[in-house]
Amino acid sequence: MNTVTLLDQDFELLIPAVEIEQAVSRIAQQINRDLKGKDVVFIGILNGAFMFAAELLKQIDLTCQISFLKLESYSGTSSTGMVTSLIGLGVDISNCTVVVLEDIVDTGLTIANIVKQLERHKTSELKIATLLFKPEAYKEKVKLDYVGIEIPNKFIVGFGLDYNGFGRNLKEIYVIKK
Ligand code: IMP
Ligand code: MG
Repeated sequence: MNTVTLLDQDFELLIPAVEIEQAVSRIAQQINRDLKGKDVVFIGILNGAFMFAAELLKQIDLTCQISFLKLESYSGTSSTGMVTSLIGLGVDISNCTVVVLEDIVDTGLTIANIVKQLERHKTSELKIATLLFKPEAYKEKVKLDYVGIEIPNKFIVGFGLDYNGFGRNLKEIYVIKK
């Protein structure tokens, strides 16, 4: 599919499935190599990172735990600037190496907020892996340890990312048509 329509918006293909798969595999290999022998807990950020987390974790060969956190900073196509913690951790992450799995880092507000909250848990190490990154939009200083693909500062959907709740199931990534 080269274009998709979700609600009132048309989107066109930006990143084909093979490129996403390659980016996910690259991150998995780096994590397997870097975190070998460590006590690792992966934390996927819902809803957007569910697909990235599933694809990535199938390629992780570490002995690890997996949990999810739910936060929200988006409504429609522009950031509302509000971040709220909605679903708790349910796993003891103290003295563990935590790897946060994000679908996308845009302004960085969400990831900075997550890091602030997780730092209270006295983890031994905190790493961030994001499938997508919008460098032009990034306003924070938090170091992104694993970045899959850098994209332009445009609204995208697919592979977990949504437009008002739709498009998360798309296996490729689409950019908004203006
Ligand atoms: P940030 O706080 O501005 O970095 O935004 C991060 C969150 O906003 C991500 O976890 C996504 O859920 C959402 N988001 C950012 N950019 C996009 C986009 O282009 N499409 C869909 N969701 C996005
Ligand atoms: Mg998200």
